[in-house]
Amino acid sequence: MTSGLPRHIAAIMDGNGRWAKKKGAARIFGHKNAIKAVREVTEGCAELGVEFLTLYAFSTENWGRPIEEVSGLMELLVLTIKKELKTLLNNNVRLTTIGSFQSLPKKCQSELMEAMEMTKDNTGLTLILALSYSGRWEITEAVKQIAKEVQHGDLMASNINEELIGQYLQTRDIPDPELLIRTSGELRISNFLLWQIAYTEIYITSKLWPDFRREDLYEAIQAFQSRERRFGRISEQVNS
Ligand code: IPE
Ligand code: IPE
Ligand code: MG
Repeated sequence: MTSGLPRHIAAIMDGNGRWAKKKGAARIFGHKNAIKAVREVTEGCAELGVEFLTLYAFSTENWGRPIEEVSGLMELLVLTIKKELKTLLNNNVRLTTIGSFQSLPKKCQSELMEAMEMTKDNTGLTLILALSYSGRWEITEAVKQIAKEVQHGDLMASNINEELIGQYLQTRDIPDPELLIRTSGELRISNFLLWQIAYTEIYITSKLWPDFRREDLYEAIQAFQSRERRFGRISEQVNS
């Protein structure tokens, strides 16, 4: 059985720093050149009819990078949201975020809020930016919430199940990604969507994110479509 188009694609946009280094430039130059890839993948997904695209843009751990890089990235985020709003509107894309929104600089928060408000009625692709996000942070927040409800007597511990936990995550109401793309060849998850990728197909390319184009997206989707997803069962069951 072959799979159709994924409803939800997630991507770990990695390799900006190495891309810049290869060109003898500062790391931030790589981040600036990552925007084109974001635009191509977003437009590509919107055109194909993918419903959700989650892009890992800044992890909880990325706060530990040199201060110049962190502030450069935050500034770039503000500028990019402003500049790319047109692209989102033209492509009927709705923007949302996951992650610790409060920990972002106020300017980023306000720019994002405005873009989310302006795109909230768009009915095409939902673009989810993971900002100050990590899977363990998200699960920890969910556990705290659930514990509070149990403590207050609003929830019985015996009623906790996988579906309920899913509803306490940042990705509530978003289906799990069927396909996860990571660029730059690193063979790890780096604390991304830990709960949600339980059965996600992983596609890793050595291409660095600033070089990633629409054709690379199509290649990843084709690879996904050639896989047999068994979900713990056996081939004969899946094919009957
Ligand atoms: C990904 O590229 C972007 C962010 C993590 C913000 P990197 O900045 O991690 O680039 P490399 O991995 O050092 O090449
Ligand atoms: C993962 O990339 C985070 C993002 C792409 C935003 P990193 O470059 O931070 O991951 P590691 O450190 O190589 O695992
Ligand atoms: Mg990296």
